Amino acid sequence: MTALDAETSGSATLRQTLLEVTDLSTSFRTERGVVHAVDGVTFTLDRGRTLGVVGESGSGKTVLSRSIMGLLGGKNVIRNGSVRYEGTEIIGYSAKQMSSVWGAEMSMIFQDPMTSLNPVMKIGKQITESLHRHLDVDKDEAKQTAVALLKSVGIPAPEQRLEEYPHQLSGGMRQRVTIAIALACGPKILFADEPTTALDVTVQAQILDLLEDQQRERHMAMILVTHDLGVVRTRADEIIVMYGGKVVEQAPTRTLFSSKKMPYTEALLRSIPRLDMPSHTRLDAIPGRPPNLISPPKGCNFAPRCRYVQQRCLEERPPLVEAETPGHFYRCFFPIGTPENADALERNQAAGTPVGVPAPRSASTPEES
Ligand SMILES: Nc1ncnc2c1ncn2[C@@H]1O[C@H](COP(=O)(O)OP(=O)(O)OP(=O)(O)O)[C@@H](O)[C@H]1O
Ligand code: SF4
Ligand SMILES: [Mg+2]
Repeated sequence: MTALDAETSGSATLRQTLLEVTDLSTSFRTERGVVHAVDGVTFTLDRGRTLGVVGESGSGKTVLSRSIMGLLGGKNVIRNGSVRYEGTEIIGYSAKQMSSVWGAEMSMIFQDPMTSLNPVMKIGKQITESLHRHLDVDKDEAKQTAVALLKSVGIPAPEQRLEEYPHQLSGGMRQRVTIAIALACGPKILFADEPTTALDVTVQAQILDLLEDQQRERHMAMILVTHDLGVVRTRADEIIVMYGGKVVEQAPTRTLFSSKKMPYTEALLRSIPRLDMPSHTRLDAIPGRPPNLISPPKGCNFAPRCRYVQQRCLEERPPLVEAETPGHFYRCFFPIGTPENADALERNQAAGTPVGVPAPRSASTPEES
């Protein structure tokens, strides 16, 4: 049961939309050309819910999070679309206007706790600074809150830790401190950008459990960014799969796992270990490279790596379309689980073409839909 489900009682369902992102695009002007890092992303996020954002390295996950939070400044950044927070458009907000949103409304946990903590500032000061910036608290209250926060994120002897520097803590403890800082001002939305990638496998699950507990207690919404579909499988209510800056599949988590449509999602799933796999099972890395974001291919971005690719995929760009299950969107001409998909694979296999190369057209080739 998700936090939101827990809040609903009887027939009255209380849903509070915090964030509405509509057709958000973010590009960077560079010497080599314009990098289209995020292209046309749309979703809503309700209080207490978790959105998983998944994709390989370079798919636009971090740029999406930072773009929503207004953390990308400078004249080389081009942002289009809409980001509404609690009904208010914030896309045009200046850094000064956003400073009342950062920390108190939305905050972010970064991938590497060492780079997000100040190495020469005591941990206590790093937490209390944020409290002083956003909340009207005196020195004693700030210290008490800092101790309570460290305790709540599972840091033993918190009073003592306040006097220590980041390098005196283990990686897992440092990430707990960054979580405490992110939670300090009671944000309504927490962005967790690969919060466990830099940690040992054994610590990863503890940190993810901690985030989930905190989210439930505080009834926060969370955007959980990861390259690993396994991480969001049991933790997200909805998942966005990104490829080359675009959403290629978007669905409630259960729907995504039971009826995925995108060959890319299928390939990502093949690349994660499952508990029922015998040990030492070889996982399939996705062959090939992600698309060039300055001059993407004419047709489907995934075509050069897709085993179902057909001639049409090289010529036309597939639009994002809704599946028969409401709320399930995908971007593919030959979606998984359809006769067209099975035909596409059969044609490629019969022609013996490598992945990413469509079977040549022949007189007997059935009409592509
Ligand atoms: N400031 C920038 N200027 C130019 N290109 C950028 C900039 N920041 C990001 N990019 C490009 O935007 C694309 C998306 O980057 P992003 O960091 O969002 O990927 P990601 O999905 O978070 O990857 P990872 O899993 O490695 O963290 C990449 O091709 C990256 O090189
Ligand atoms: S089948 Fe075609 S449209 Fe679908 S992902 Fe593969 S290349 Fe893209
Ligand atoms: Mg990233």
